Amino acid sequence: MRIKVPETLTESHLKYDQDAGRSWNAALPALAERYLDEWDLRLDGEPSHGIVALVLPVLRSDGTPAALKLQPVTDETAGEALALRTWAGDGSVLLLEADPATGTMLLERLAPDRSLSSVPDVTRALGLLADRLRRLSAHPAPEGLRRLGDIARRMLDDVDGAVATVYGERDRYWLRWCAGAVAELVPEPGDRLLHWDLHYDNVLAGAREPWLAIDPKPLAGDPGFELLPALWNRWDEVLATGDVPRAVLRRFDLMVDTLGLDPRRAAGWTLGRVLQNCLWDVKDGCLVLDDVHVRVAEAVRARW
Ligand SMILES: Nc1ncnc2c1ncn2[C@@H]1O[C@H](COP(=O)(O)OP(=O)(O)O)[C@@H](O)[C@H]1O
Ligand SMILES: [Mg+2]
Repeated sequence: MRIKVPETLTESHLKYDQDAGRSWNAALPALAERYLDEWDLRLDGEPSHGIVALVLPVLRSDGTPAALKLQPVTDETAGEALALRTWAGDGSVLLLEADPATGTMLLERLAPDRSLSSVPDVTRALGLLADRLRRLSAHPAPEGLRRLGDIARRMLDDVDGAVATVYGERDRYWLRWCAGAVAELVPEPGDRLLHWDLHYDNVLAGAREPWLAIDPKPLAGDPGFELLPALWNRWDEVLATGDVPRAVLRRFDLMVDTLGLDPRRAAGWTLGRVLQNCLWDVKDGCLVLDDVHVRVAEAVRARW
């Protein structure tokens, strides 16, 4: 076997999903070999990975560099190929081949180790990220994706249980507050093609364009639901300003301006996104809400 799964990826598979993770991990080398063969690819360097995906640099038969991405099909990843096909390279990586049966994709090759996280000036990085979001969310969502309206309604169903579970009055207050915003917005959930996971590591340097988005977990909805990852990633730089609410709002306002969003709706959907994270944490057994999310909610409430 020519393909060795990086140990850190194996650990991550086991951490997130014991049994399924183990069998997925064991099957990965053979799966990669299969697509190298089917799509006539040659290995061209060391693999990269995130928490789930294995990405192999390859050359196509005509010598073009590409990247082979292998990941399990889940609710979140299922729409990735459809979203990339819809964007057709407009701010995103190009999709070259896809097999929906296994979730395997062949992508335009980008620089695996140069993401917006490596841009030292966070305001510049944020401006670039916001501009990608503006372009991506200009596209209407195609049929067949998860819909924000359904996700939001399911969140609201889970709020009472979470309120009964968390430990402190502050956390109960924030769960209810965020749920109130979502309840008001849920009748108008939007129809744009959303990336959902656009943080600094998911924008890579490219040759066709300087910066391109990768790794969507797409859904159809309001672009206000896209802002949270960029608000809480690179959090050290928020803390370093010494004024968390001001620094969060600075990021929020820059994105809202760049995307041309209504600030109140964007704030409401950001609170919805905070709620989504908090509900997941509670489901995973947390009894206290993540302080970063609460601090983002506190700041963004000023625009609601
Ligand atoms: N098109 C690409 N070209 C080069 N490297 C890539 C490409 N897509 C992903 N990578 C590398 O693989 C890593 C994981 O890919 P990503 O799609 O973000 O998966 P995950 O869902 O696991 O985060 C990226 O951080 C990057 O280093
Ligand atoms: Mg990623």
